Amino acid sequence: MNTWIASYVVLSGLLLSLGGCNTMESFGQTMTGEKSLYDRLGGKPAIAAVVEDFVGRVAADSRINGKFANANIPRLKTMLTEQICQASGGPCTYKGRDMKSSHAGMGITGEEFDALVGDLVATLNKFKVGDRETKELLGALAPMKKDIVTSPMAAGPNG
Ligand code: HEM
Repeated sequence: MNTWIASYVVLSGLLLSLGGCNTMESFGQTMTGEKSLYDRLGGKPAIAAVVEDFVGRVAADSRINGKFANANIPRLKTMLTEQICQASGGPCTYKGRDMKSSHAGMGITGEEFDALVGDLVATLNKFKVGDRETKELLGALAPMKKDIVTSPMAAGPNG
């Protein structure tokens, strides 16, 4: 009988700890006990601050700022914040247009894409975001390149 009680106690403890694991996930930890990228970045306020600085760099970057001449900058900031929040595992739903249609007809080159990513990395360095988090965030954005870059190369000296 004592053995049965002992087994019951052990089993309940096991189930409780599994249950506890799920509860932790709702507080931003994954099943392996790791915090989500969203939480490691510092949540939505930190992401909004990153986007603010990043868009400022893009606006000052003569390699790409011409493409943003007619852009709705406040909307862009909101959309980027939502997108990064969602892509990093945060509690947001990106409600903007998909990457293909929002960049269609802009003739964005691979060089321009890389310039924009360079501006983002400069911001992440300024905010002292760790190497691991930087890599994870860039890894989440990289698959979007194929939908954003539509021009095979930068205009050469002859046009
Ligand atoms: C990882 C790279 C990029 C991401 C994640 C990204 C993300 C976004 C998002 C979320 C929007 C808003 C869509 C909406 O309004 O519904 C947007 C719009 C836009 N993006 Fe990008 N983008 C990227 C690269 C680029 C590059 C390389 C350029 C140009 C050099 C660019 C130029 C623009 C412009 C001009 C708009 C339109 C703004 C407007 O119509 O008001 N983007 N982008």
